Amino acid sequence: MSEPQTSSNNADVATLRPPPRHIAIIMDGNGRWAKARGLPRALGHKEGVEALRRAVEASRELGLTHLSVYAFSTENWNRPQTEIDALFDLLRVFVRRDLARLQKDGVRICIIGSREGLSADILSLIDEAMEKTRDNTRLTLNIAFNYGGRGEIVAAMQEIARAVEAGRLKPDQIDEAMVSRMVWTGESPDPDLVIRTSGELRLSNFLLWSGAYAELMFMDLWWPDFTRESLEKAIDAFRRRDRRFGGLGA
Ligand code: IPE
Ligand code: IPE
Ligand code: MG
Repeated sequence: MSEPQTSSNNADVATLRPPPRHIAIIMDGNGRWAKARGLPRALGHKEGVEALRRAVEASRELGLTHLSVYAFSTENWNRPQTEIDALFDLLRVFVRRDLARLQKDGVRICIIGSREGLSADILSLIDEAMEKTRDNTRLTLNIAFNYGGRGEIVAAMQEIARAVEAGRLKPDQIDEAMVSRMVWTGESPDPDLVIRTSGELRLSNFLLWSGAYAELMFMDLWWPDFTRESLEKAIDAFRRRDRRFGGLGA
C-alpha cells in the first residue's frame, strides 16, 4: 500500500482523525496466493476463510461496528463450475462452523446480495444465520454473496417503481436517504473505508451506492496473507487522511 506524501495525507499523531466505524473489504488474490505455492485455487479460497476469521476477530477487538466483505460477486458466475462449487461449499462451511462462535461473540451476520440462482440449502442457511444473530450488536458482519453493486441499485429502483405504481409513493418523495435504506446494505451506515487486497485497482462492482464517499485503499498483498496487523495499518493510514466531503476540510 502506498500513501502519497502530500500534506493532506500526512497528518501527525496529534491530528489523527477518528477511526473508521465501517470497513469494507474486497478479499482478492486467493487464486494467486495458491498459484504462487503450486496449490489448487480452491486451497487459496480455503486459506482466505482463515483470513476472514482473523479479520472479523480483529474488527471486533479494534472497535469497528461494521465489517463488510465481498465473498462472491454476480460476475463470479463467469468462473468454472468447479470453482463456483468450491466457493459455495466454503460459505456453507463458514456459516455452519462459525455461527455458534460468532453468536457468542455478539456478531450479527447479514448476507447481502441477490437470492437469484442460489440453491434452497444455501438460502435456508443464510436465513438461519441472519435470524439467529439478528439481535447481536457488537459487530455487524455483512457478507456480500451473489452481490453486485449495479444489481443492488436496480433492485431498489424496481421496489420504488412498484411503490409508485401502487400509489404508495410519489416520484417527488424519492430521495437519497430513501435509496440508501433500500439498497442491500441499507441497515448499515455507509462504509468509511474500502480496502482491496491483491494490488488490483478497481471496485469490481462493490458498494457503488453506499461507497460513494468511502476512502479507498489498495494493499499489495493477497487476501490469505491479510492479518490483524494489515487491518491496523489500514486503520492508521485512514486516520491520517483528510476527508473533505467536498468542503475545505480540517
Ligand atoms: C478472491 O480471490 C475470491 C473471489 C473472487 C471469490 P480470487 O479468486 O479472485 O483470486 P485471484 O484474483 O484469482 O488471485
Ligand atoms: C472481486 O474480485 C470479487 C470478490 C472479491 C468476491 P474478482 O477477482 O472477482 O474481481 P476482478 O475479476 O478482478 O474484477
Ligand atoms: Mg480476483
